[in-house]
Amino acid sequence: MRKPIIAGNWKMNKTASEAAVLVDELIPAVKDASCEVVICTPYTDLVTAVAKTKGTNIHVGAENVHFEKSGAFTGEISADMLVDLGVEYVIVGHSERRQYFAETDQTVNKRALAALNAGLKVIICVGESLQQREEGVTEELVRMQTKIALRDVTAEQMANVVIAYEPVWAIGTGKTATAEQAQEIHAYIRTILREKFGAAADETPILYGGSCKPSNAPELFAKEDVDGGLIGGAALKAADFLAIGKGFPQK
Ligand code: 13P
Repeated sequence: MRKPIIAGNWKMNKTASEAAVLVDELIPAVKDASCEVVICTPYTDLVTAVAKTKGTNIHVGAENVHFEKSGAFTGEISADMLVDLGVEYVIVGHSERRQYFAETDQTVNKRALAALNAGLKVIICVGESLQQREEGVTEELVRMQTKIALRDVTAEQMANVVIAYEPVWAIGTGKTATAEQAQEIHAYIRTILREKFGAAADETPILYGGSCKPSNAPELFAKEDVDGGLIGGAALKAADFLAIGKGFPQK
């Protein structure tokens, strides 16, 4: 049985003082959630988020991590730095990192390995652009992104891996993939995981991301291989985030 997850990706939103307000709203809102609740915040909000969520059911994640352990990498943050703060999760390979910050499948893999080796849980993002979907290469692309991201990841480490399928054309556009489109790719990702990890692939949560909101979450989450959501805009409002978390049916 895969535990459902809702993970917020705050992106570059919320100063530390604004984060404190949002976390204070989230704590009572999600306290009875039956799913795992994760908030991935900007680096500057992590201390506040970790301190405030101590003893609650909210898990804190970062939005990126560097792959080296330490050294002359001005402006970067290592996995050990996150662990030391009490951070549990980290997103790697978000399409915005790929698009604006020259992230490649190879650097996604390096970041995932660094994070896993430090004991973090990783949320690895994959997904096609509109052009790639229209060209009919979604499956090839997702296969490549998934396989390279997981290079050298052990079966044991897979217990700390979450995959997020985020079609780029659905991110921040209000245009959600249909539940059928999501299920098709989620099931495909699971076959890729099975090729490498066998039946253990059935334990890996695969989240959907891209304009996920209270109105479409129930239909998406009802699909067999959709184990939750990676939520951008709607994660910035406690009521919406809570409502999305209530979208899980009994499977
Ligand atoms: P939106 O929910 O704002 O479309 O963002 C999705 C996303 O990119 C989550 O990582």
